[in-house]
Amino acid sequence: MENNVRPEAMARITTPELASAFIEEQIKEIRAQVGDSKVLLALSGGVDSSVVAALLIKAIGKQLVCVHVNHGLMRKDESENVIKVFSDELDANLIYVDATDRFLNLLAGVSEPEKKRKIIGAEFINVFADEARKLSGVEYLAQGTIYPDILESIKQAEGKKAVKSHHNVGGLPEDLDFKLVEPIKLLFKDEVRVVGEALGLPHAMVYRQPFPGPGLGVRCLGAITRDRLHALREADAILRDEFDKCGLSEKVWQYFVVIPDIKSVGVKDESRYEGWPAIIRAINTKDAMSATIEEIPYSVLHKITARITSEVDGINRVLMDLTPKPVGTIEWE
Ligand code: XMP
Repeated sequence: MENNVRPEAMARITTPELASAFIEEQIKEIRAQVGDSKVLLALSGGVDSSVVAALLIKAIGKQLVCVHVNHGLMRKDESENVIKVFSDELDANLIYVDATDRFLNLLAGVSEPEKKRKIIGAEFINVFADEARKLSGVEYLAQGTIYPDILESIKQAEGKKAVKSHHNVGGLPEDLDFKLVEPIKLLFKDEVRVVGEALGLPHAMVYRQPFPGPGLGVRCLGAITRDRLHALREADAILRDEFDKCGLSEKVWQYFVVIPDIKSVGVKDESRYEGWPAIIRAINTKDAMSATIEEIPYSVLHKITARITSEVDGINRVLMDLTPKPVGTIEWE
């Protein structure tokens, strides 16, 4: 437990110089810890796992085996980007698993949010464990645990209840008994980002807005269908594109689209047609425990509405969620 406590004297990593010193120190520690063994990492493309991957690639190169599981609930182009950065640019040992059908088949007809989360979490472990069993010589599992995760686990151990079950990767099956490598476990998120930039990861990856482990699965409300999921992915990509273009992505903490399982009447090419509404959520927060609504200029909202309703099949309205947290949670499910 002791090395899970951040020493009071540990300086906050705020500059590239401090980040470089941290990286050098970790490279030595990682090499000393793992020797010639292979290390396995579930690489989601989120900030934490990406920084751990880049750090380990620097320390042990191809001894690191990254597994990227596409659960079919990723945002548009996200898996492609992981492949581009880690396989093409950093020459990582990367296994890409397209498990879309496995996940979507299990989720068919399931509408209860916590049940959806449990299915996604459990299947993620199944897919990852299947890949791990195919490899030989792996002794270690690297994880992107950061200091707030450790503080949260301590809180939960003290019996404080969480509103939603946020932990996406539970324990692996007993036959996969790896030792852990957790090089950023004493860092806060802002420090992880400074280290990520010092490692040369793309700015967009390092400053990526938080994305829940169950992905678009908890934004395609109720029972997920492939057509509504597709519409959600396209609408979300348009929102992100327009926020990037007008600089809002630098100012808003989290922004995304949600699609409920209801239809309303619309008109297209002079005939009546039923479509889903796309709901925009854009919030600011410090710690995700409470959140305020970001005011988006009407001109931007008009542009997004015009693009989503003309470019995305199946959507005929765009709505804006103006609810702070509390009383709403950030995600709808
Ligand atoms: P809520 O909806 O609880 O969200 O206000 C707070 C923050 O947590 C994210 N979130 C999740 N992250 N797995 C995750 O990794 C989850 O199941 C999950 N649910 C919500 C949410 O996006 C927000 O940043």
